[in-house]
Amino acid sequence: MPSPILEFSNVTLHFDDVVALEKVSFRVEEGASLVIMGVAGSGKSVLLKVSIGLVKPDAGDVYLFGERINDLPDQDLARFRQHVGMVFQESALFDSLTVAENVAYPLLNQQGQAPPGDVDARVREALQFVELEHTLEKLPSELSGGMRRRVAIARAIVNHPRLLLYDSPTAGLDPITAHTIMTLILKRRDIGNVTSLVVTHRLQDAHLLANFRYDAAKGDLVAAGRNGAGTQPPTRFLILNRGRVVFDGDEDALSRQQDPYIRRFMIAKGVRAAKK
Ligand SMILES: Nc1ncnc2c1ncn2[C@@H]1O[C@H](COP(=O)(O)OP(=O)(O)O)[C@@H](O)[C@H]1O
Ligand SMILES: [Mg+2]
Repeated sequence: MPSPILEFSNVTLHFDDVVALEKVSFRVEEGASLVIMGVAGSGKSVLLKVSIGLVKPDAGDVYLFGERINDLPDQDLARFRQHVGMVFQESALFDSLTVAENVAYPLLNQQGQAPPGDVDARVREALQFVELEHTLEKLPSELSGGMRRRVAIARAIVNHPRLLLYDSPTAGLDPITAHTIMTLILKRRDIGNVTSLVVTHRLQDAHLLANFRYDAAKGDLVAAGRNGAGTQPPTRFLILNRGRVVFDGDEDALSRQQDPYIRRFMIAKGVRAAKK
């Protein structure tokens, strides 16, 4: 069996008396999607940051691309980070930089990147992917919330990463804009076989990841087998509560859960509610 792209083994992290992560274990195979859910403060953002060594755990092991990264100094981590893209909560664009400069940032500030002559082409390619080529010279403040999210995605993919981490990419967006963002996430996953970790509160987002795939010929999402059968490695769900994994499984297993904390994230409930 190939080694997973990302693996946590009993990862624990406390901030003073706050339990951010407690014995968290999971693995994500190449091309798979992992949906991460949980109430505010349950450890979702910390989990993403620990995944790429931005925050170091107190105990346990984190394996990225098959190598243990816990104790690596920052200069060694840079070698890994060039293959990872992250869409931070609230986009986290640099307000004083133009869209083009924001997207170019990882190319100019991470090691092993494109030669300077290629930067413009890579920035245009990334912005084309999110259909925002026309905003190159704009400032983030001139864009809508949904457009800023799309710029954040362009910045995250400009390096052609193998692993993409999305922290609440649809939070605060209207349903149509949220669907546009999810379509981009599936497109990136399915065209490039990119492994994706997606933090979300929206049942619809998780349902799309688990049951749809991006069809390049149609230029749109099409239904895949349930739980992504026949396309990607199946989509898995990780539900956190106070830093602990309280559920790890697929959508079908999730729909059978009876625990009230877990049930609030259940897809079936959302679908039933929508049909009324
Ligand atoms: N840098 C930090 N210093 C102290 N506490 C933190 C820090 N980062 C996160 N926490 C705490 O860890 C817990 C998990 O945080 P986080 O992962 O951001 O939650 P969420 O699931 O909302 O993304 C919360 O209680 C949060 O207050
Ligand atoms: Mg968070």
